[in-house]
This record gives sequence, structure tokens and C-alpha cells, in this order.
Amino acid sequence: MSTFQADSQQLILALSKGRIFEDTLPLLEAAGITVTENPETSRKLILPTNDPDVRVLIVRATDVPTYVQHGAADFGVAGKDVLLEHGGEGLYQPIDLHIAECRMSVAVRNGFDYETAVRQGARLRVATKFVETARAHFAKKGVHVDLIKLYGSMELAPLVGLSDAIVDVVSTGGTLRANDLKEVEAIMDISSRLIVNQAALKMKRERLQPIIEAFERASKK
Ligand code: ADP
Ligand code: PRP
Ligand code: MG
Repeated sequence: MSTFQADSQQLILALSKGRIFEDTLPLLEAAGITVTENPETSRKLILPTNDPDVRVLIVRATDVPTYVQHGAADFGVAGKDVLLEHGGEGLYQPIDLHIAECRMSVAVRNGFDYETAVRQGARLRVATKFVETARAHFAKKGVHVDLIKLYGSMELAPLVGLSDAIVDVVSTGGTLRANDLKEVEAIMDISSRLIVNQAALKMKRERLQPIIEAFERASKK
């Protein structure tokens, strides 16, 4: 058969390009797995490794849980932000890999008095990619919000009057500073997790368990 099929011998790992791929490479090395093509230069979406039974799918960060949940990938690496939006159904989340660390925060334009607006019970327009996390955060605070779903460049929204605030991930704070924004509330710490398809964990435990253990040891260093 020429179609792509994950059989019982094969292990399929779903990763996104960029920081998650880069930060997962040393963990794979610790498990004896070397990815033999670079997703930044290759146009291939299925990358080979030194182990003929292990292949890496390159997908969008937000799609990693979908591939793993449906068993199109046996395991993957995804940020807590992405997992909270997706929901954990069908996914086993054995370890925090302590990679791609950042925090989810509320930010507003310099000069916008967020505390007063909240105290006075103003209705806030909040632009974000993370609508479920934002909804839960503001509901817990008892703040009424109109959520505006965006897919990127959230920092732009308050600058052009699309929103009063944004909810986005922050690491160095450089992007907020560069766009005349300030962080007014940290919602939660974020890092990336190993996620495993629940059926694969049962059917392929012999192959997956040593990799999970190697990831766990290497991510603690
Ligand atoms: P996307 O194309 O979806 O933005 P990224 O590679 O930028 O994908 O982000 C992947 C994950 O890395 C996010 O889900 C988040 O957990 C984390 N992350 C995002 N931005 C940063 C950052 N600036 N510093 C550290 N980790 C980050
Ligand atoms: C992320 C995030 C912020 C920025 C925060 O963007 O969406 O814009 O990092 O990091 P900082 O606090 O260190 O500036 P990313 O670099 O992933 O770009 P993209 O998702 O828009 O491609
Ligand atoms: Mg990004």
C-alpha cells in the first residue's frame, strides 16, 4: 500500500517548526533518536530519523493535539496554552518538558488604566488567540468581556482600537515594549508537555515507554 499508515512497529511524533522542534531535538537525542532532515530547509512534512521506525510530522502548533488525539500521530509536544484551548480528550499528558517556557498575560496600552476600568466594572474588549483561557480568567475575576478571536499579532489590536486589552504569551516582554504595551496581569505559567495518544500508549507501550522515560530524565536536567 502506498498510503501513509502508522502500523504497530512505527512511531509517529507530531511537532511544530521553530522553538518546539528545536527544544525537542535534545530530548530526542537523549532517547537515541536523531532527526535527519531540517524542517527549516526541507519542504517535507514527514521527516525521517536515524531509526527507520520513527518519523516526525511537521504540523502547526495548534494542530499537534488534533493529530495525537485522532491517532494520526502516536505522540507529540504541545504548549499548555494550546492544550487548554484544545481540551485534553483522548490525550495522556505524562510530563512537563520545561521547554518553550513563557507566561500567559493580560496586556494593555501604556496609559490605559486597567485597574480602574476593572474596578468600575467596565466592559472590556479583549483580543486573543486563547479565547477559552481568557474567558475562564475574566469569569473568575467577575469581569465582563467581549472576546475578539485573532490568530496572531495580538499586540496590534489595542494600538488600532480593535480592543482594550489582549491575552497573549509573554517571555522577555520585548514584543510588548516594542509596541507600547504593558503587562497588567499574569494569568499562568506556560511550558510544553509531552502528549501521547491513549490507544497508542496501550498498543505500543514497549516502544513508547523508554522514550517517555528518556524525555523525562533529559527534561529534568
Ligand atoms: P505559533 O506559530 O503557534 O505561534 P510557536 O512556535 O510560536 O507557534 O509557539 C509554540 C509554543 O511555544 C506556544 O504554544 C507556547 O506554549 C510557546 N511560546 C510561544 N511564544 C513563546 C515565547 N516567546 N517564548 C517561549 N515560549 C513561547
Ligand atoms: C510570541 C508571542 C509574543 C512573543 C512574546 O510570538 O505571540 O508575540 O512571542 O515573546 P517576548 O515576550 O519574548 O517578546 P512569536 O515569537 O512566537 O511569533 P509569532 O507567533 O507571531 O510567529
Ligand atoms: Mg508564536
